[in-house]
Amino acid sequence: MNKDIYVLGMETSCDETAVAIIKNGTEIVTNIVASQIESHKRFGGVVPEIASRHHVEQITLVIEEALQEAEMTMNDIDCIAVTEGPGLVGALLIGVNAAKALAFAHNKPLIGVHHIAGHIYANRLVKEMSFPLLSLVVSGGHTELVLMKEHGKFEVIGETRDDAAGEAYDKVARTLDLPYPGGPHIDRLAHIGEPTIDLPRAWLEEGSYDFSFSGLKSAVINTLHNAKQKGNVIEPENLAASFQQSVIDVLVTKTLNATKEFNVKQVLLAGGVAANKGLRSELERAFKQVEEVELVIPPLALCTDNAAMIGAVGTILFENGKRSDYSMNANPGLDIEQNN
Ligand code: KG4
Ligand code: ZN
Repeated sequence: MNKDIYVLGMETSCDETAVAIIKNGTEIVTNIVASQIESHKRFGGVVPEIASRHHVEQITLVIEEALQEAEMTMNDIDCIAVTEGPGLVGALLIGVNAAKALAFAHNKPLIGVHHIAGHIYANRLVKEMSFPLLSLVVSGGHTELVLMKEHGKFEVIGETRDDAAGEAYDKVARTLDLPYPGGPHIDRLAHIGEPTIDLPRAWLEEGSYDFSFSGLKSAVINTLHNAKQKGNVIEPENLAASFQQSVIDVLVTKTLNATKEFNVKQVLLAGGVAANKGLRSELERAFKQVEEVELVIPPLALCTDNAAMIGAVGTILFENGKRSDYSMNANPGLDIEQNN
């Protein structure tokens, strides 16, 4: 009988200090997330120095809490997986160094993982993967279509040329004086408004799977400023609904096109913006028509940053024989296609 594999995952790339324990790559034993959102809110965005300070204060507490909740000790852990990049360098450093110290102290294998690979593997905690698959990754820092033909191998077939989807949401929210992070607030407003304002959709060249959201973001900001100058009132909920419709149209259409071109069996939604209710329901509606493709959408808690997803991808890399050594460093520019 094969022994169960327990991987301790750690994530500190942005504003969540998170530790999780994952059994056999698919089952969450424990998943602790200490969020710093309250500390960053008053600055309207994540302040890197404050993020690092919080990670330092929280990391050992969160590791202890995860082990305690799982009723496990480090002796039960087979491997430590940690986000190596991309992210804020000072924030990543705390997780990477804590993971190295823990691996050294307990003589455990150490594996550096890619944050976006983690977001994609959050789906494996919901549904076993079947290849080839396509993942639509939409987060605060990334908007990508990633093709996977086997475990642990990622091919980026399209990416944003400017702002990430989440970044556009947060900037539009700030223009509407909504609190940080703005994505959920725009989502909420969009549901009570109507998409009455005509906004651009950046389709780019024929056949391209790349994205661009900065033109849309500027169009929203200009619409608001022009209205203000003329003394016209724009209902924020209608602007939110129009913006959201523009983003979703492009995301869903490009995902559908890539699904057909690459003949994939599954489509996985990943990243913080995957929590968006409009995007979730539009994707569900669109993929109802494509019966041969299975759409997987993780629960909200697995869409935003967490360590369960890091443990999930860490397990695959562990099984594939990947090991990092103590020279591993935080790598904000880590490439998902190279990191396996
Ligand atoms: O993946 P994530 O937690 O962090 C990164 O790795 O970037 O994503 C955070 C992003 C933020 O931009 C936030 O506004 C956005 O996800 N977000 C949403 C929603 N919930 C979170 N965007 C749109 N609608 C939502 N419901
Ligand atoms: Zn993330």
